[in-house]
Formats: sequence, structure tokens, C-alpha cells
Amino acid sequence: MIQKVLTAAVVLLLTTTFTQAQDALVTLETKDNALVLSKRNDGRVFYSYYGLKDNLPEKGKFPLFWEAYPCAGGDYVKEPALRVVHADGNTSTVLVYQSHETKKIDENITETHILLKDEYYPFFVTLIFKAYYRENLIAACTELANREDKPVMVYQYASQSMPLRANSYYMTQFHGTHNNEANMVEEKLTPGIKVLDSKRGIRAHEMRSPLFLLAPNQGANENQGEVYGGTLAWSGSFQFAFEVDERNTLIVTSGAHPFASHFALEPNKPFRTPEMLTIYSAEGTGKMSRDYHAWGRKYGLREGNQIRSILLNNWEATYFNFDHDKLVKLFQGAKDAGFELFLLDDGWFGNKHPRNNDKAGLGDWAHNEKKLPRGVAGLCEEAERIGIPFGIWVEPEMVNPQSELYETHPDWAIHQPHRSLHVLRNQMILDQTNPAVKDFSYSITADLLKNNPYISFIKWDANRYITNGGSSYLSPEKQSELVWRYHEALYEMMDKTAKEFPHIRMMLCSGGGGRTDYKALSYFHEFWPSDNTEPMKRIFIQWGYSHFFPAMTQAAHVTKRGNIKFSFDVAMSCRLGMDYDLEKASKEDFEFIKSAIAEYKRIRDVVQLGVLYRLVSPYDSPRCALMYVNDDKSRAILFVYQMEDDPNGTKLISLQGLNPDATYQIREINTSKPVLQERQMKGSDLMRGQMAFPLQQRSTSMVVELTALPSR
Ligand code: GLA
Repeated sequence: MIQKVLTAAVVLLLTTTFTQAQDALVTLETKDNALVLSKRNDGRVFYSYYGLKDNLPEKGKFPLFWEAYPCAGGDYVKEPALRVVHADGNTSTVLVYQSHETKKIDENITETHILLKDEYYPFFVTLIFKAYYRENLIAACTELANREDKPVMVYQYASQSMPLRANSYYMTQFHGTHNNEANMVEEKLTPGIKVLDSKRGIRAHEMRSPLFLLAPNQGANENQGEVYGGTLAWSGSFQFAFEVDERNTLIVTSGAHPFASHFALEPNKPFRTPEMLTIYSAEGTGKMSRDYHAWGRKYGLREGNQIRSILLNNWEATYFNFDHDKLVKLFQGAKDAGFELFLLDDGWFGNKHPRNNDKAGLGDWAHNEKKLPRGVAGLCEEAERIGIPFGIWVEPEMVNPQSELYETHPDWAIHQPHRSLHVLRNQMILDQTNPAVKDFSYSITADLLKNNPYISFIKWDANRYITNGGSSYLSPEKQSELVWRYHEALYEMMDKTAKEFPHIRMMLCSGGGGRTDYKALSYFHEFWPSDNTEPMKRIFIQWGYSHFFPAMTQAAHVTKRGNIKFSFDVAMSCRLGMDYDLEKASKEDFEFIKSAIAEYKRIRDVVQLGVLYRLVSPYDSPRCALMYVNDDKSRAILFVYQMEDDPNGTKLISLQGLNPDATYQIREINTSKPVLQERQMKGSDLMRGQMAFPLQQRSTSMVVELTALPSR
């Protein structure tokens, strides 16, 4: 397969008119791919190749394809990667090669620095690439250093500018809104610039995740053809600009959003952009995702090699309406059903302004005396007595105007002077650029954890984006640094929490998927993909995020929405949990919940640590199928969801990733009335689509366990 794929990059690079052939300056190599940069005689550095390493041009024949980090103001007239104004007012930058260095960080990671300098000014740019060999991932970022004697104004500062040349380009974005995240839409790029961005600053991914797929020549395909995946490890505003120029070259410029975010770069205070994480696959999006998942589990998440717990959350069970006794009953139910953690959500704090709805109390983190007379400590005691680990929700970056915190410190909220208060979900954002605010926000979680050592889990929420983005802490000339400085402070807080409380597991949430990036996730174990828990919708949301994030990261909770068997089957393909009032469950439902949890405990090592194969896309047909296979291919779990009535549709599914020579025992699980008859079949036949999975009605589903029989 690999040999047969002639990458678009190669075909077109060699026929391009950017002819000057060179030796490679730097070759970044991964298991399957290579990215090559070359130097022109005048010292300017170019991309020469990015694709399969089997197709690398011969030595001495690398074309100078596109400048590696094009700058505004000189001879470059397209979307620049960098735009600065030097201390003397010169608006141009021309970068030339100084030196480069490649270091082996360990047996898998190589880090390359290419140092460039303006041809006149002492202004330096280092292109930094980390190549993760086994996972085929390249992380690119840029460091700017000013050695002029006065500040340099920086207006645009991409993490990476990546060129491609093909006949046509198909780009997939992951857009949405609250309750409707990660919708995949693919479009053919036309001449001009298509920009995917967010200018929302905080909770910046509410309408669009910083993710894209790019397929040259034809639409992205799951199992074949070329595709580049890109994701920015950055939680703030971002911009991906896809520019198809007059010669049909595509330049993708990616990074933190430059919109209203310029800053003065002081001499000798280097600035580093976020990392852009790119994976190229010559075998479709399936392989690309598997590489992202392997990278995510090893490098992108906390404890990515550890099984995640099954938790019961009270949010959709009670919303704000609970008290000590109610929670203790839920603890007991959770324990009896086999859950491994109870998560107390919003509503446990505030006294002068009790947090009984989302209008008041946010910011006042003392427990509510009425609801919880024995405090969080009393809940911990009861949870410990019952034997269920305990977690708690915080939203440390936010405040309701109706709170004691806001009454005392109205200036702590992000807001522009002379403008009326603009609340979203009745709340304001606390200005983390102010060290006093940062200390306060940090202490919310830290104090809770110090005072209640029984707590083992935190859900960290952030429920609004920035409007009226002004800081009463920053000086007038630094107002445009708000988003940047906010995130520096935020990451410092997250990092400190992770380091000071290493045993605490953490869920990242932002009103659903408003913060879905690998930088924030590096401090967390999982994220809450959406407040929409309707299983039919969740199939699409989980499918979308699965392109970049492994199953263990996606908190998937069964709620009252949807039928219980279908909901469980959907949630069990990710990190299973529930938002459910177990006291209200019928005896039959409770028994089903118990047995589904027990089944999940048996199969979750395959789901959470295994390899994903997406088999049938919910976007293409009225059904969806996906499977996970463990490392030695001895076990696999298949999930099939019927999304519309379809009595006559074909029910054959070609499985993937199995051992063709092994014989598998096939058994439908998570039901007392299996549709499939238990049987044995060879891996090769299963992968040739010789088996039917006969679902016909909307909202029916099956979970199938495949176990390789010992070879004789
Ligand atoms: C957000 C989260 C929910 C829940 C509520 C609590 O909307 O996404 O899961 O925690 O906040 O207010």
C-alpha cells in the first residue's frame, strides 16, 4: 500500500516551477514520513518536502518549495507567518539562516532548532520542530527574540506556515456550538483565503475546535489516500488560514489568533508560540487518528496509560436541587451499582447568594450551609464510609455579579471601562493576568483538596467567553496582551494543581467542549465533550473528536435522554459514566445499569487503551460502526448503532485490525436478548465483510466482543 501511494507532495513538488534544487538542510524523520527544509543560496529557508519518506526526492534534488516562515513587509505579499515593526519603524522582516541544531531528546523524540535572523536587524526567529518518531507527529512552534535596543511590535506570529501543492484541496473543519460540538464539514478550497478561527479568547472553542483535516486531490477517506491532520495546542483564540494562491499552491498558516493581540517584544525576553501538532498519513484518516491517539496517550494527556474510572455525576440527576441526604443516597446507589467515583457538580457553595441556579453565588466557594450542613468534609466522611471515591466541580476562573466576591472586587472581572456589564450565563471572567486574582483562583481548588484529602477528582469548568475584553490590571498599552497573559496564568495554575496534587484525576470542561486542545489537556485526564447527552447526537460528537483524541479522554455519560440500552452502548465506546438519579431508576433499569457497568469493567482496557478503527460513518449512512482492538489483536470490541429505520439496508460490516489467521469467538454483550448468535469466525473472513450485524430499527445497537481462540 505504502509503495503504491505517490504522494501529491512529491508529484507536484517535482513539477513545480520552484526549481532550484538543493541538498536538504534539515530532514525531520518519523517512522513513515519525512519533512525536509532546504536553504537557498541567499540564506533563506524553504520547505522542500513533507510526505512519505519512501518517496523522498534524491539527494541534491530538493526543490525550494515555499519559504518556511514568510514575513510581511518585504517581498512576500500573502498571508504572512510573521509581521513585526522594528524599533525604528521598519515594517519589513527578511529572515536568513544562521545555524541549526538537532538534539535527540530520547529514543523517540528529536528536536530541531533552526535559527534565523533578520538580514539587518538583531531580530531572531527560531523554528522549532519536535519529531515523534513512532507516532509520526511533528510539533512545530516558533520563538522570537529581540536583541534590538528597543521593543519590537509584534502583530502576527504563527506557529507554522505549511505549504502544499496538489490539483485541489479538501479541508474538513470541526465546528458547532454549545450542545452541538465537533460537527465535521468538508469543503473544496477555492482560490483566496478560507479562515477557520475563534476570537472568543477564553472558552475559545465553543463554536469551533482547533482541529482540521486537509486532503490533497480528493476528499479525506478513512482507509486510503493522503491526509494531513492539524491541531493547535492552545486554549485561546486561534486562526487557521488556508490560502490557495494564483498558482494553486496552498499555504496553511496556523497559530494563536493575531486579532487584537499585538504586543511589544522587549529586548532579550524571548516569546514562544503554541505548538501546532501535525500528522501526515498516506493511508487515510483512520491511520492518522491512530497515530494521534498513540501520541495523546503517551505525551498529550496525564496518565494516558491508566484506565479511567466509571463515575456517577449528579448534574443531570439533580441540577442545583440537592442536599446532604440526597447526595448520600446517591453515593449508596453509586456504590451498589458498581461506580468507582461520585462527582458532585455545581451548586454546593454560596450562602449570602446561594448557588441555587446559575444566576448567583459563583465566586463564593464556602459550602452552602443549608444544603450541606456538614460541609464538603461531611460528604467526604459519608462517601468514605460507603466506600465510594469522591470528586467535585469547580469553576475557578469565573464570578457571578451577584456574589460576595464581585461585591468586594468588581475590578477583578474582565470588562471595558465606560461599557455596560455584558454577562453570559449570568457570569463574568476573573482577570487571571492580575496576580492577586490568580492566587485567589488557584486557592479555590488547592484549599478544597488540602482540606478534604478524600477528594480524588476535580471537574474544572469555564462557562463563558470574553466580551468587552479589558483588564483593570494591565496598563493601557498592554490591553491587547490580555488573552495571551490570561493563558500563561491559566496554564501556570493548571500545572501547579497537577504537580501539587499528582494523585488527583481531572476532567476538563468548558460548558461542554469549549476548551478542547492538547495544551490544556496536558494537565488533565479527560474532557467533557458536550452538555448534549442525547445518544444519537453523541454518536456524531464522539465521532468528530475521535479524529484527534483517544476514547479515554471523552467523558460519555448516560442520562435520561435516549433509551437506556442504546445510551449505554454509545457511552461505552468512550469513558463510561452516568448523570442519573439512581433512586428513580426502575428495578429493571437498575439491574441493567449494574450489569452494563460490570461489562464495561471487563472490556474497557480494549476501549480505553486499544486501537480505534472507524468502520461505518454516521455521516454516510443511517448506521455507525466502530471497533477497538487490543495490542496483540487477541481481543476486540465492536459497536454498531442503527440511527434510522432501515429494514433493507445491507448489514455486512468489514471489520479491521484483527489477526487474519486467528479464529475469533464472537459474542454479543450488554444485552439479555442478543440478536447475534454466538459463533466462531476467522479474522480474515471478518475483515472481508463476511458477517452481518442485523439491526433494523432506529435507536437499536449492539456491542460485540471478539476473543481470539488459542491457536492449535
Ligand atoms: C456546564 C457543564 C455541565 C455542568 C454545568 C454546571 O454547563 O458543561 O456539565 O457542570 O456547567 O453549571
